[in-house]
Amino acid sequence: MTQEEALKILKSGHNVYLTGAAGSGKTYLLSKYIQYLKARGVNVGVTASTGIAATHMEGITIHSWAGIGILNRATDKEILEMVSNKRVARRIQKTQTLIIDEVSMLDAERIDLIEKVTRLTRQSWEPFGRLQVVLCGDLFQLPPVARADEPLPKLVYKSAAWQNMNLKICYLHEQYRQGDKELLRILNAIREAKVDDTVVNRLRECRNTAFAPSPSSRFVRLYSHNPDVDGENQLELKKLEEKEYEYIMEVNGIPALAAALKMGCLAPEKLVLKKGAAVMFVKNNFEKGYVNGSLGTVSSFNEAGIPVITLLNGNEISAEPATWSVEESGKTLAQVKQVPLRLAWAITVHKSQGMTLDAVQVDLSKSFVRGMGYVALSRVRSLEGLRVLGFNAMALKVDEETQEFDQELKKLSEEALHEFKTPSKPLIKEEDITAGYCVEKTREIQPYSHKKWTGDEESSLISGFRDGQSINQLAERLGRKAGEIRSRLRRLGLAEKRVD
Ligand SMILES: Nc1ncnc2c1ncn2[C@@H]1O[C@H](COP(=O)(O)OP(=O)(O)OP(=O)(O)O)[C@@H](O)[C@H]1O
Ligand SMILES: [Mg+2]
Repeated sequence: MTQEEALKILKSGHNVYLTGAAGSGKTYLLSKYIQYLKARGVNVGVTASTGIAATHMEGITIHSWAGIGILNRATDKEILEMVSNKRVARRIQKTQTLIIDEVSMLDAERIDLIEKVTRLTRQSWEPFGRLQVVLCGDLFQLPPVARADEPLPKLVYKSAAWQNMNLKICYLHEQYRQGDKELLRILNAIREAKVDDTVVNRLRECRNTAFAPSPSSRFVRLYSHNPDVDGENQLELKKLEEKEYEYIMEVNGIPALAAALKMGCLAPEKLVLKKGAAVMFVKNNFEKGYVNGSLGTVSSFNEAGIPVITLLNGNEISAEPATWSVEESGKTLAQVKQVPLRLAWAITVHKSQGMTLDAVQVDLSKSFVRGMGYVALSRVRSLEGLRVLGFNAMALKVDEETQEFDQELKKLSEEALHEFKTPSKPLIKEEDITAGYCVEKTREIQPYSHKKWTGDEESSLISGFRDGQSINQLAERLGRKAGEIRSRLRRLGLAEKRVD
């Protein structure tokens, strides 16, 4: 569907999965929708699965939004602790629409945890505590990062949250990033698993692409692995004939916790900078105007030796040291302090997901996961901006299961389009859209939509189900739709046992 058609569905207040190929304008459309909601006073949680992807919409990571840190799963006690964090709880309670971009990298377990935290914080039984949730992404792009010694993470659509959200699927089919037909042919061949010799040979020719000089005369180097990124950054730093400034991380508290903080904060223990260095912020600081992922260049150092950064948007920020800490019951158990920057001439393919870049030099010879080549190659607008140093077989592969699911998504998107085009389907008027009001309006059309379950109703449902009543009998007796009965039974953990 077009962006306009998808925007209409988003405005209806339904939960939506917005998808489409790289460059189809998903994030662009999200920004439009966010603008639209903000203009109407709707409180929007703007997030993405990675910090750098969140910066494209001036948002934060979904794990900071939900206050879950690096956790993927949590005990009830840990969830209760999260829910008791007043700052996070206030944010979750105030939010009316939650946007999550780049969900291909969000694993099923994590979205289920976020759903649970959100529901408990909002003291509701509805999925995500009755927020409008907009998931956005492309499953042909990078999957969730696998952690060592853990089973492979499941993709987001295999989560319980996805099953329960009653998502409308919006599949964008237009292309806005790539005007270059030849590059599009290559990208589509990868998406459709139809890579042939023509594609391979054309990519080989990209080894020697000479970039036209750009205003910033900078091209971004992409690598699959962090050590290659670090090596390239050090090489570039050496080339600058400027004074070196060194910043050493301060580390305090319980050693094991401090070590975890050192690993997790992304700022290096020893940071060396020079005037002219390409850098990236690795922490959020909304007052100062930077977020995790903001890119810029060191333009000077102030009298105290603090680096001053000119961001890509032209803003100047002095990068004072920041702290990362682990706290329990108001007591700091461990803390690290460092200038919140890392070098950024080169970045990983993972961090590049979501970006549009003019010129890219990519080395895919060590690609280790499906989707990696597709993400890297789809960052540029045309083959003129693409230099490919090498690639292995994995680089041009995409996930087979995703291919099957993609067909289904396309069908569901057609259905959604049809549903919202049919005049008999009463749409909620645009001016009525504030998430809360939207539910009231929906109820005028469907009296039981989003209606809360009372304790009595729930007990009656459970006993009826245990007595062997069919879904339709239960629906009739309780004055609900069969779908609602099924979804409530699933939530109560009973549906898996019987599916009539
Ligand atoms: N309707 C539009 N009008 C003008 N430019 C657009 C429009 N839609 C998208 N673009 C531009 O096209 C480029 C790609 O868009 P965007 O980044 O939103 O795509 P995406 O689908 O989110 O891609 P990815 O999957 O890589 O994140 C951006 O430079 C964006 O500004
Ligand atoms: Mg995007």
